Amino acid sequence: MKLRFHQCLFWLVLSCTVLDVTSLEDVLSQSNFDNFLEPLNSKNLFTLKDANGPQVKFSLRKPNQPDDDICYIIPGKPESLSDCTFNSTAKTFLVIHGWTVSGLFESWVAKLVAALYDREQSANVIVVDWLSTAQNHYVIAAQNTKSVGKGIAHFIDWMEETTNIPLENVHLIGYSLGAHVAGFAGSHTSNKVGRITGLDPAGPDFEGVHAHRRLSPDDAHFVDVLHTFTRGSLGLSIGIEQPVGHVDIYPNGGAFQPGCNLRGALEKIANFGILAINDAIKCEHERSIHLFIDSLLNEQEASTAYSCGSSEMFDRGMCLKCHKNSCNTIGYDATKVRKARSVKMFTKTRSSMPFRVYHYQLKIHFSSKINQTKLDPSLSVSLYGTKGEAENLPLNVMEKIAANKTQSFLLVTEKDIGDLLMLKFSWEESTSWSASSLLQMVSSWWSGVSATPSVDVHKIRVRVGETQKKIVLCVKDPKAVSMAQVVTFVKCKDEWRGPSRRKNLKSH
Ligand SMILES: *[C@@H]1O[C@H](CO)[C@@H](O)[C@H](O)[C@H]1NC(C)=O
Ligand SMILES: *[C@@H]1O[C@H](CO)[C@@H](O)[C@H](O)[C@H]1NC(C)=O
Ligand SMILES: *[C@@H]1O[C@H](CO)[C@@H](O)[C@H](O)[C@H]1NC(C)=O
Repeated sequence: MKLRFHQCLFWLVLSCTVLDVTSLEDVLSQSNFDNFLEPLNSKNLFTLKDANGPQVKFSLRKPNQPDDDICYIIPGKPESLSDCTFNSTAKTFLVIHGWTVSGLFESWVAKLVAALYDREQSANVIVVDWLSTAQNHYVIAAQNTKSVGKGIAHFIDWMEETTNIPLENVHLIGYSLGAHVAGFAGSHTSNKVGRITGLDPAGPDFEGVHAHRRLSPDDAHFVDVLHTFTRGSLGLSIGIEQPVGHVDIYPNGGAFQPGCNLRGALEKIANFGILAINDAIKCEHERSIHLFIDSLLNEQEASTAYSCGSSEMFDRGMCLKCHKNSCNTIGYDATKVRKARSVKMFTKTRSSMPFRVYHYQLKIHFSSKINQTKLDPSLSVSLYGTKGEAENLPLNVMEKIAANKTQSFLLVTEKDIGDLLMLKFSWEESTSWSASSLLQMVSSWWSGVSATPSVDVHKIRVRVGETQKKIVLCVKDPKAVSMAQVVTFVKCKDEWRGPSRRKNLKSH
């Protein structure tokens, strides 16, 4: 039973049958991959059909036929390069797919090929076909990533000898298991390739293993990684959780991608079985590819990622300051950072293309004379700028608000509102708060001039991640605050600023 359960887990995405389980959390937390791998390892089930190693084919796709394999480059046959009109002065991309149940290319392959040609018209976009090996039991496919990678390394070495292409122009892009294939390829070429992009590298069998046995920063001059389906607390993750490149970006914390509705699927699992989450899993895992495609197609709407100690700190808006290499662009235009290793970066995204959002940090100091019950309000914020507004954004209050403490919050907007001019706080009635207690609480909050204030907020400091601009906002009309349901903050007038600060703000 246990073994069958695990097999099911591997085949989850496309072919698993209904299981009698209450939630994915239960399924995943019960699992133990070592027990599962043991019998396979000892029986050596992963022998290859072909004594020369797995079959790997290299199809040079064309911009006008991104979906069709019409010309294969064959190592050892230089004429195949000219037959396929290989351009040795242009960039060369190798697109490497992952594990497959169907044995067919998934629809993202053609989309990625088309997007690469959209950005780099004269490039050589080569689709690496290792489908026959990838269409195996997951464990077998995973154990063959090294020999497939070696086959690709041999191909790259041959191309370099034959055409003199600078390897700096070679960029491997691997998805899921294909990311580790790219890593093995990079570590076996005679000279280092320029770049490897890992799109949600596979987790099972690779998490926690030595750098030589997975994608790592040693495999190319620049290794950048997008993690979109990591599931930290469960002991099992379809995408690898640990950083494996020079730059590792975790959009939306690396899980629960907007628009994929994994949370909803997890709730439905009790009624509909494990099939209910197929689409959500595929959506989260593949989101890495679509973020990369977005970066190729929407160069003007590039997303920024911010290095941060943890996803929780990022969610408090504490990591929006860019200095040295602490910020980077997501996807194709990521800046090469060679010295760094294992830098975790975070960003929020929209639910569809273009994925870019604008990040704001709000720093609010709550001052109070008396210690009182900590407040846990639910608030929403509206931002008004020179180009537009973003209204009723929920303010994620992650810890209770306490006296004489500065707290930091993260807000995101989907559109560019330009320079921030005004900010409004408002609250909605909720069942847990009676209207009158809310009114009392909030009115006392903002009452900067009230006779018996309990909590005061004089200023809100705002930092915008995308522009790195800083703004200080003050209560617009302190006298009107006490009974208002909406409190408005505007740019502070000069008298609100200290003399030393004034200089900075003017030169700004
Ligand atoms: C080959 O690539 C180079 C560099 O991108 C480009 O300038 C040139 O036009 C390409 N040649 C052909 C025949 O497409
Ligand atoms: C907060 O700081 C103010 C000014 O320093 C002080 O008067 C007040 O007692 C402090 N409140 C608490 C609860 O410590
Ligand atoms: C407020 O409470 C904290 C602990 O909750 C305490 O350390 C502090 O001394 C208190 N301040 C006043 C002014 O009572």
